Amino acid sequence: MPTRKRTISLTVNGKRMRLRIETGETLLDVLRRCSYLSVKRGCDNGACGVCLVLLDGKPVRSCGVRAEQAEGCQVQTVEGLSSPTELHVIQRAFIETGAVQCGFCTPAQILAAKALLDQIPDPTEQQAREALGKVLCRCTGYVRPVEAVLRAAAALRGEVLRPIVPVRMVLPEAGAPIELPEAYRRGEAVHGALPPLVFSPLGMEKTRVVGQPAAKVDGEKLVRGLPVFTDDVRLEGMLYGALMTSPHAHARIKRIDASKARALPGVHAVLTFQDLPRLKHASGGQSYPQPPPYDQVCLDNKVRHVGDRVAVAAAESLALAEQALELIEVEYEILPAVVDPEMAMAEGAPVIHDEPDTAGIYDPLRNMVHHIEAEVGDVEAALAAADQVFAGEYRTPKQQHVHLEPHVCITYWDEDARLVVRTSTQVPFHIRRMLSPLIELPVKRIRVVKPRIGGGFGNKQEMLLEDLCAHLTLATGRPVRMEFTRTQEFISSRCRHAQILRYRIGVKDGKVSGAELYLIGDTGAYGTHGLTVQMVGGFKGLTLYNAPNSRFTCDVVYTNTTPAGAFRGYGAMQCQFGMEVLMEEVAERLGRDGVEFKRANWIRVGEKMHLSAALGEGREGIEQTLSSSALEECVAIGMDATRFSAKRQAHRGQTGRLRRGIGMAVVLHGSGVAGLDMASATLRMNDDGSFHLLIGATDLGTGSDTILAQMAAEVLGVRVEDIFVYSSDTDFTPFDKGAYASSTTYISGSAVRKAALEVRDQIREYAAGMLQGARASELVLEGGAVRAPDGQSVTLAEVALSSLHQRDQRHIQASASHVSPVSPPPTAAQFVEVVVDTQTGEIRPERLLMVVDCGRVINPMTAAGQVEGGMAQALGFALTEEMLYNDVGQPLNPQLGRYAVPKAGDMPPADVIFVETDEPSGPFGAKSVAEISIDGVAPAMVSAVHDATGVWLRELPLTPRRVLRALEGEAPAR
Ligand code: FES
Repeated sequence: MPTRKRTISLTVNGKRMRLRIETGETLLDVLRRCSYLSVKRGCDNGACGVCLVLLDGKPVRSCGVRAEQAEGCQVQTVEGLSSPTELHVIQRAFIETGAVQCGFCTPAQILAAKALLDQIPDPTEQQAREALGKVLCRCTGYVRPVEAVLRAAAALRGEVLRPIVPVRMVLPEAGAPIELPEAYRRGEAVHGALPPLVFSPLGMEKTRVVGQPAAKVDGEKLVRGLPVFTDDVRLEGMLYGALMTSPHAHARIKRIDASKARALPGVHAVLTFQDLPRLKHASGGQSYPQPPPYDQVCLDNKVRHVGDRVAVAAAESLALAEQALELIEVEYEILPAVVDPEMAMAEGAPVIHDEPDTAGIYDPLRNMVHHIEAEVGDVEAALAAADQVFAGEYRTPKQQHVHLEPHVCITYWDEDARLVVRTSTQVPFHIRRMLSPLIELPVKRIRVVKPRIGGGFGNKQEMLLEDLCAHLTLATGRPVRMEFTRTQEFISSRCRHAQILRYRIGVKDGKVSGAELYLIGDTGAYGTHGLTVQMVGGFKGLTLYNAPNSRFTCDVVYTNTTPAGAFRGYGAMQCQFGMEVLMEEVAERLGRDGVEFKRANWIRVGEKMHLSAALGEGREGIEQTLSSSALEECVAIGMDATRFSAKRQAHRGQTGRLRRGIGMAVVLHGSGVAGLDMASATLRMNDDGSFHLLIGATDLGTGSDTILAQMAAEVLGVRVEDIFVYSSDTDFTPFDKGAYASSTTYISGSAVRKAALEVRDQIREYAAGMLQGARASELVLEGGAVRAPDGQSVTLAEVALSSLHQRDQRHIQASASHVSPVSPPPTAAQFVEVVVDTQTGEIRPERLLMVVDCGRVINPMTAAGQVEGGMAQALGFALTEEMLYNDVGQPLNPQLGRYAVPKAGDMPPADVIFVETDEPSGPFGAKSVAEISIDGVAPAMVSAVHDATGVWLRELPLTPRRVLRALEGEAPAR
């Protein structure tokens, strides 16, 4: 495609520049080409705002500005905001408030804040929200970014700022009243972020670094916009890969001719199914052996959903690669498509996987990937003997992850003829193992490097680009970069499983005596994660109330829609949604208070989790008992903080157009996969008494690098700054199964703690030889030194220098691995307050509060950020987010804007209270926090809407149309 070039002059960060640009290039393209890599690309239509820069002081999305329009303008990016030694006040505020998670949106948010504060030195919270509304953030729920803007404003006005410290309180003995600080006790929605409030049980062991709101170890590089993400490098000779996707939901490729594409100058490779070996695999990044079926090949002669892979090209530029794809001639035999999972199981439905070489599909002719049955006790007998039996059907939609950094991957040969895969993945070690057979290279010739990840939420627990990118490097010998467009994220990556949940429960003497869940899980076109998501969902859904007679039956079904995969919540959030709403409905029908009815039935400490042995993750599980829970206290504290009972009372008999409601849900989750998830850590001591912590765990923005450093620092008696975390590179860091299943704090943390204890013991033993008459077992590590009871001490630097260079030389270092036979559930109570407009059906959320027991809170700031962000994603799931398809499988809303995720202005005040427990199997008593945060909003929202209006809603999202239909009595329930 011929392009015209011209020269423009502009000033970037105060530096005058003359740049050669091509016609049509955007300011975003030019800035990134000129290494202003803080400016990110997150979408195709200007909706996400992560490319925001200041143009003559005004915030603009640089993807929407043609480069020539910037002629003569002043452009500011985050790179120009700070000096090498000093951060800008706004950057500091983002770190101090914990506003940075993955950091992909952070430079744009900081610039949006700057534009606001340059104009309005004393903004309101609303103005801060409006300014941040230009930039989507999927991690934070905007709670801390808003706080950062207000804090930066105060700092710029010269006000003295108080450090943000969590409020810590002792949890009273059972039954004693719990005193909440007044700020948390307000009956109305609070404004701004409250510091995390942490209740600790009496007698919980004191810690020094663990439990502190340490700043993220990667915070500074993220607020500076340094080039830390996968796409922030340019390799010599790098080619650009592009993916051709199917326009049809179901079709056979009768003929494909890539000769014209290959003949295009600048195109180096075009690959179709004719060019690659047909090697069956599953793309879900799970432990070996991955659960069946292996129903995918890198490129196939059949397409099974719009967005399915058809061909790839590598060329000198992305535009050329895309042009090449347009020249590929494809003749499709279009096949009937099926998008409804119940229709897909019907006799005579189109068969989606009719290929003969996929083994392990339960019933291919009925598109049933898996059929799962698990039972404890005797459910039929329990239901027959029950006082009453209740049933309810609930439906949840496909949801897209919308991590702001798309899937992106760069592959290249290194100087030792090994293939390097630089990729934004949650599972680097799984990728190395899974990729090896597909490209026919042994594992030892593959190195997977994970830079910082711009969000993942489960979607990067999947091999989606790495195999194609690697094939292009194999074909060309050149480095190749591939990235999904935002539309491809919707149609070609993964999504949450849509589920149909049919519950039956029997109640005898006020107790749930029997429970049954029949689940239909829509896995889309491929079965990746289909088995495990539903098994986890069934287990969690039926364990919350833990009936001794429980049965889970499930059909996992193919449809001609986007494949479903891992997504934060992993089936548990859908199944608990159904169970929670049913429990509230049952309480109403029994004339009982909903909270009391649930309290009488929820699982308690010491109870065996009845289905734990029958329902593992992809296999049989391990029998487990609930070893810690503060669910009782979480509910009590949340009810107090929201004045739940008084509001419920006040809401009775409401009339008028606008009606208020308050709702509550209880949830539990897990901490890793029992008996399967394994992580390792290596700690090495440096000459100055600092340490390198090498981990295979992957920080998606959750702050896991930080909390793992805190754990090591706690044991070694040093500061977090003395621990340098390096993760993850399959050549240099030890194995970790990756970031999923809420396992990093619990499993990887235990590995770090073990390695740190081993290093501590080595230090004590060595130091004992440096101190007169000292016994190793009596030495204490604190303040960067080793101290003896008699007052003698030696610094860690002295220990390190001596051990490395002088006496009895050795490198003080240790590696440790951890696998847990249990997966202790965190528990939580979610509260939601709403106003329902009974004329429009709109639900306006007024407040979200989650009270969480995640064991010991390792870092209240990052943990609170996890909960706030999880609640925001859950709010989208409850109210607006739904991937829609027409009857022939065409996606109807595969773009940001048409698919509505919460923006800063959509978020109500959202706060978090932690109630600690001392989980005996967890590192320092910790359990997990990342996933439970997403589980409760939807059922609590339904509960609140019922409180406001008296109707039950059983299908998500709660769109105005569904609310109105329910209010009008039209098919309110299934
Ligand atoms: Fe905003 Fe991750 S921190 S998208």
